[in-house]
Amino acid sequence: MDPDPSTEPQTRPVDPARRTPPPIRYGEMARRAPEGDIDFDALFDAPGPGDAPRELEIGFGRGRFLVERARSAPGSRILGIEIKAKWGHLVEERRKREGLTHVVALAGDARQILPRLRPRACLARVFLHFPDPWWKKKHGKRRVLDDDFLAEVSRLLAPGGELFVQTDVEDRALEMRERIEAFAVEGAPAFSMRGAFDQPNPYGARSNREARADEDHLPVYRVLAIRR
Ligand SMILES: C[S@@+](CC[C@H](N)C(=O)[O-])C[C@H]1O[C@@H](n2cnc3c(N)ncnc32)[C@H](O)[C@@H]1O
Repeated sequence: MDPDPSTEPQTRPVDPARRTPPPIRYGEMARRAPEGDIDFDALFDAPGPGDAPRELEIGFGRGRFLVERARSAPGSRILGIEIKAKWGHLVEERRKREGLTHVVALAGDARQILPRLRPRACLARVFLHFPDPWWKKKHGKRRVLDDDFLAEVSRLLAPGGELFVQTDVEDRALEMRERIEAFAVEGAPAFSMRGAFDQPNPYGARSNREARADEDHLPVYRVLAIRR
């Protein structure tokens, strides 16, 4: 007997517009640091004059500061490093679209990239905006700002160079300032501290988290340390 069409399961063709798109493989698309030693200037398509100040931003996230800083400091060379491949890729694409040849956005773990960056004492500024938003002790291992990080920043900053850190978590600001103040190279303090927690951001650019804190009228705690 022929099947009754009214009781047969219906298989309707899937509307192509409703199909789930394939996942975007940011991990494969993002720009990565080269293997081995990394020559800072060789990362840039147009490195500019040899005396252009070199700057580094760690953990740029959605990249607002990196792009705004590129505009406010057109004579500098700025390297950004972000561990999340998605943001690394999207920000590198954006800076290319906007013709920002003095900026490079790399995807990767700054803790693995910084020890390979050369030459020593090449940087004028290091920016770390709203890092490590976890304040529980158990999250200590994930933190970027530890003594290994400060050792690399001390090696890379020129004398008089600036390490600028900001956060909206007061306890983290206190802890980071104490750690930076206590950090020594060959028995001598590596940094001297400038200004109070409520000093303004002097760099003509704001990070995404900073802009959000401003909109919500939340305090931002800032630490400016100068390499001795
Ligand atoms: C709280 S978000 C702040 C993002 C941005 N700086 C801002 O202020 O809007 C911290 C950022 O640091 C990045 N990050 C964390 N650990 C990192 C590491 N080891 N290397 C590079 N980026 C890292 C995170 O992926 C995240 O984008």
